[in-house]
Amino acid sequence: MKKVITLLLAVVFATSLFAAGQQGTADAGSKKLAVGIVLPTKDEPRWLQDEARFKDALEAAGYSVEILFSQGDSARERANVEALVAKGIQVLILTPHDGDAAAAAADLAAAAGVKVISYDRLITSTTNVDYYVTFDSFSVGKAFGQYLVDNAKGSGNNLYLYAGGSFDNNAFIFFDGAWSVLQPKIADGTFVIKNSSEAIALQGKKELSREELGKIIGQVTTGWDFNIAKNLAEGHLTTATAADKGEVFICAPNDGTVRAIADAFGADGDVTKYYITGQDAEKASVQYIIDGKQSMTVFKDVRTLTSDAIKAAVTYLEGKTPTATGSYDNKAGMIPAMQTEVITVDAANVKSVLIDSGYYSASDFTGL
Ligand code: GAL
Repeated sequence: MKKVITLLLAVVFATSLFAAGQQGTADAGSKKLAVGIVLPTKDEPRWLQDEARFKDALEAAGYSVEILFSQGDSARERANVEALVAKGIQVLILTPHDGDAAAAAADLAAAAGVKVISYDRLITSTTNVDYYVTFDSFSVGKAFGQYLVDNAKGSGNNLYLYAGGSFDNNAFIFFDGAWSVLQPKIADGTFVIKNSSEAIALQGKKELSREELGKIIGQVTTGWDFNIAKNLAEGHLTTATAADKGEVFICAPNDGTVRAIADAFGADGDVTKYYITGQDAEKASVQYIIDGKQSMTVFKDVRTLTSDAIKAAVTYLEGKTPTATGSYDNKAGMIPAMQTEVITVDAANVKSVLIDSGYYSASDFTGL
């Protein structure tokens, strides 16, 4: 498969060289998609979903593409971008591991005349980002908060907060969205924060600055890593008293880390019931929801995101500019963006949203 893709790219590259030699006489109709895609890691099922959906969409569209993974390493990410630029791509679709660190990769692509599309996570601190395709990440966080609020009764409910990787701009947006819903319910006594002195210090403030968010996130970050998430949760459970346990509400950032955190809380004899949030609708978490081990996930239909990214890439290849529905601040400027909505999934609608819609097949799960 890799050989086929490489061969196709070689053909694309040779064709574009030939076209350049023809001084603009190339037939636009025969133009191939000269696109490189770089995703952050193969170790999280979320990004394997994107890889699979990119392949499906590109195959259907009759285009070829090369997809590389950075394995959570910014140096490798930059080397991937360099390799694709050397192969003559005209459009780069990049999900940065670390938003700030990826600026250098975006800059080198732009210097070679390549259009840069930031995919799902924003490349930050450079103006060399042409377009951003993303889910509504603030809504993802709001959905976490709303789910916990909807299930809490009375006052004094035990609340545990967890966050994504502080190198990822999305982690801030998710937490900010969750905080916007949870903070009023912390202020009125519905919830009591159990695992973050930084969050407790800021619990009177509805709107947090990036720096304030950074303080809380720095204390409860999972780094998007399952093992860190597990150790963090186990540490919290070790220091918590029996009264801090019982029925607990856990705001957790994504399915991979949620399963680790849920396993830790589930194994604690003093925890009688837990509500826990998640996102990505990873297959393993869909099974956890069916089994009652994870309460909800926020479904982000990556078919829409891959399709938006490809549409934008094709628009650039045609020498045009894709339309935007909004813009995002990447710390260097406002980046035109296309945003996709999300859906909250729990045991009540898991079948209709994820199976009946054809996103997953029923045979992938047991006990449906
Ligand atoms: C975020 C992404 C999430 C989640 C997380 C961990 O940027 O939006 O869907 O997968 O990274 O990789």
